[in-house]
Amino acid sequence: MSNLDSLDKIVSLAKSRGFIFQSSEIYGGLSAVYDYGPLGVELKRNIRNAWWKEMTQRHDNIVGVDAAIFMHPKVWEASGHVGGFNDPMIDDKQSKKRYRADMLIEQFIAKLNKDGKGEKAEEIQQLLDTSGTRKSLTEDLYDIIIENEIKSPDSGAFDWTEVRQFNLMFKTQFGATSSEEDGVYLRPETAQGIFVNYKNVLDTSRVSVPFGIAQTGKAFRNEVVARQFVFRMREFEQMEMQYFVEPGTDKNAYEEWLQKRLNWHKSIGIREENLRTAPHPQDKLAHYARAAADIQYKYPIGWQEVEGIHNRSDFDLTQHQEFSGKKLDYFDQKNQKRYIPYVIETSVGLDRLTLMVLCDAYREEEVDGDNRTVLKLDPRLAPVQVGVLPLIKKPELQELAYKIDKDLREDFSVQYDEAGSIGKRYRRLDEAGTPFCITVDFDGLEDSTVTIRHRDDMSQKRISVDKVADVIKTEMKNWKAN
Ligand code: GAP
Repeated sequence: MSNLDSLDKIVSLAKSRGFIFQSSEIYGGLSAVYDYGPLGVELKRNIRNAWWKEMTQRHDNIVGVDAAIFMHPKVWEASGHVGGFNDPMIDDKQSKKRYRADMLIEQFIAKLNKDGKGEKAEEIQQLLDTSGTRKSLTEDLYDIIIENEIKSPDSGAFDWTEVRQFNLMFKTQFGATSSEEDGVYLRPETAQGIFVNYKNVLDTSRVSVPFGIAQTGKAFRNEVVARQFVFRMREFEQMEMQYFVEPGTDKNAYEEWLQKRLNWHKSIGIREENLRTAPHPQDKLAHYARAAADIQYKYPIGWQEVEGIHNRSDFDLTQHQEFSGKKLDYFDQKNQKRYIPYVIETSVGLDRLTLMVLCDAYREEEVDGDNRTVLKLDPRLAPVQVGVLPLIKKPELQELAYKIDKDLREDFSVQYDEAGSIGKRYRRLDEAGTPFCITVDFDGLEDSTVTIRHRDDMSQKRISVDKVADVIKTEMKNWKAN
């Protein structure tokens, strides 16, 4: 059992062990922005590498790019972000706190359900689902809030501004002058860097449809509600792949990628019962989407999206063709056909993924009347894979431990630890999610053996010093989520 009923324990472990810190903490922090510490940066990098390997190394028709964060402002007009990348927000006039109007209503519905007022909850849900059809979206949401006397969750006041649309893109100045035309956006998704390079990739690589382009990188959104640790941030990292296919083959490709991506989450050690797919209902799809589904994880805050799979049709390439005036169609040499490819997109947030990995690995266990906290991470993702520990601080033991430490560093991330009792050191490494500890004792000096201790079941066995790396490699490969 993970014992997690809120994010609090993860937030606290993340800080105390150096996984994730609040940004600019010594100045009081910056809301919804986070920094990764020594353990966090390794974990995040390992997850990114696992994704990159899965998408590019394992597919001979998927290549990578690394596009800039700044892009031509017209990109965001073509993509629809300037006109439509909005959240409806409302302000509590007394506390000056800002809320997302739809989320405020959803919270109210959840409370009604909790209080046994299911009928009323259903009625409001119906109004929320059809908002935008009576007057405008903002007016309909405002009406629901006012008519149901929904109060501010922080101040308890019922003193609201109008509901307004709030564009989520950050804008900044570009170059030495500051005229309006010089404004550029920080990209709100990495996908557009792929679309605008589609022709470059086609012209310079040996790919032909169907093929994919993968990218990882920072994205920025001025989220109205950002109170859920790294689940919803204003600066975050995305890992996206656009798969270009012939129209007509898009439905199959979409189903295939949805399944492949779900399987990948299982392959990095996430327990099956905590994952599910949630297709978006047809009437809720974005105007360009033919189909869309979330891959959801059972976070301590409920079932939430970790990855989105979308069939984006030819919307993006058609828009960029129109706005740029450059032809973006594809000529199929074999069948002598010309068309604009459809795009199947897989889009996952790396920070949200890291949070999922931490939540799924987190365990509190009772051991001999004592409690231990342990992260049962997939050993390939663990920030420290091997701990090397001399049983006590004696030069003979240290000497052998240093040698083992040095040898293992060629293949694994290693931490040498000789401070404190052996039990305390094991617990420290359990909390860091270190799957293997190699302990050097006096018996081992006689017969060239050491003890390997396993994080998950705390079992120990003696192995020969010259087999340490091989044993770890084999056990890493055979590891199963438990
Ligand atoms: N190109 C499609 C796209 O960006 P999205 O559903 O808006 O789709 C994709 O975002 C993924 O990016 C989400 O599933 C989530 O994991 C991550 N994501 C989006 N907004 C985020 C935020 N504010 N903080 C952290 N991750 C976020």
